[in-house]
Amino acid sequence: MVALEVLQIAAGEMDNFAYLVFCPQTRKAVVVDPSLAPQAVLDAVNEHQLELVGLLNTHGHPDHIAGNAEILAAAAVPHWGHPADLPNVDRQLLEGTEVPVGTGCIRVLHTPGHTPGSVVLLTGAGLITGDTLFVGRCGRADLAGSDVDQLYDSLQRLKALDGSLKVYPGHDYGVRPISTIGDEMRENDFLNAPDRPSFIRLRMG
Ligand SMILES: [Fe+2]
Repeated sequence: MVALEVLQIAAGEMDNFAYLVFCPQTRKAVVVDPSLAPQAVLDAVNEHQLELVGLLNTHGHPDHIAGNAEILAAAAVPHWGHPADLPNVDRQLLEGTEVPVGTGCIRVLHTPGHTPGSVVLLTGAGLITGDTLFVGRCGRADLAGSDVDQLYDSLQRLKALDGSLKVYPGHDYGVRPISTIGDEMRENDFLNAPDRPSFIRLRMG
């Protein structure tokens, strides 16, 4: 199976990142979280000569879905999301769902905690982590619908993945825009919390 490629796009005044994940053989692409800069995403689609085949959201927060309508107006593609956050999607992103992108596919990890319907998207060599994991920190767990225990469990799952996997976060909050699981294991205090109570104190304190 072909290795999908990932383009990171700065997406607005809340330091969001949008992503294009594409198959280098067929140029078919999906957009993940167009956020506050859908035109920048569409410009990148043209610049890289891609064909959009889907719109995915990592979760339902307004800053991530704000550009959905503009993308869907420009390209008649299915909208994918987890029903706990986005009940009206065309196709559901559930644990284990595979989203075809050209000759490759994205695999879904359901990672609740920041929101009930948060997902992390495995592109092969990378992880699009939404607001579950950032460079140097993790998502908030004090919002409506958040659950700090679930966030802890979801981060434990990410820690168990291959350290070489790249981390593509939902916001530009860190010392670098892209990281790896291995670097986050070394540098991210939220991943290094020794146990659940320590994590909860750190996150909620
Ligand atoms: Fe969020």
